[in-house]
Amino acid sequence: MAGTLGIIGSGTIGSAIARSAVGAGRQVVISNSRGPETLGALVAELGPLARAATPAEAAEAGDLVVATIPLAHYEQLPREALAGKTVIDTMNYAPAVTGWARPELDAGELTSSELVQRFLAGSQVVKAFHDVNGRVLAELSRPAGAPDRTALPVAGDDAAAKARVAELIGDFGFDTVDVGGLAESWRAGPNTPLYFEVFVGAVPAGLSMPEIYAWLAAAPLIPVPAAEVARLAATTPRQPAGFDPALIGRAFLR
Ligand SMILES: NC(=O)c1ccc[n+]([C@@H]2O[C@H](COP(=O)([O-])OP(=O)(O)OC[C@H]3O[C@@H](n4cnc5c(N)ncnc54)[C@H](OP(=O)(O)O)[C@@H]3O)[C@@H](O)[C@H]2O)c1
Repeated sequence: MAGTLGIIGSGTIGSAIARSAVGAGRQVVISNSRGPETLGALVAELGPLARAATPAEAAEAGDLVVATIPLAHYEQLPREALAGKTVIDTMNYAPAVTGWARPELDAGELTSSELVQRFLAGSQVVKAFHDVNGRVLAELSRPAGAPDRTALPVAGDDAAAKARVAELIGDFGFDTVDVGGLAESWRAGPNTPLYFEVFVGAVPAGLSMPEIYAWLAAAPLIPVPAAEVARLAATTPRQPAGFDPALIGRAFLR
């Protein structure tokens, strides 16, 4: 039976994940930084399966919990309430966009999800949904067995946690490809083909962030089967850790 999904972060991707979850019949407890009273419109849109709460309450309520806030805020996640939980990490490192940088990430010593896992030491962190936008979740969803069903990459150090996340992603209408542990999560991370471009096509070079968002809003989406996701994850050479719009259009993204 489908369990409750806790969501910490109700922004662009957090709200899109909430829509997929209620569409799949899951209860959703969603939170943000400003308090549940600011989430009335979103909860009304999501319907009776959703309610608003604080981040700690969302963590406690969730059988699975999505952490989908700016990576720079990861140490504000409710660590105690998340202990023992499977935590889906959607958060991307993008110092060129956000101004928040960590030398160990820039040096490739850690992936951003390993950093999050170190902070959430009592949780099982699984990297997922970091490489898609709401359109991909809404428009490429297909029933199990459909010939054009898309697969999404997942990474994590705990096999049981990854299986629970794969079940959720399956309910959302996608297959999954296990790309390895959190140390391998860069294989689907920023500046790789699996970091959204495979699902939307090649973004033209030289665009600003607002122009990239506008392009993404209109691009025809591309179903990507599991075999192609696995091939790209296995063959992608390691790239600079942080998403940088100036790197869009480089050959290594193709
Ligand atoms: N945009 C995408 O398509 C996309 C896709 C995949 C992954 N991501 C990644 O997913 C994360 C969220 O992206 P987004 O675009 O959805 O961001 P966003 O639209 O800016 O929303 C961020 C959300 O995080 C909440 N938040 C910030 N600090 C918090 C804290 N300490 N405790 C609880 N909630 C907090 C904000 O609360 P308030 O609403 O109260 O400000 C807001 O709801 C980022 O790390 C991003 O890199 C984004």
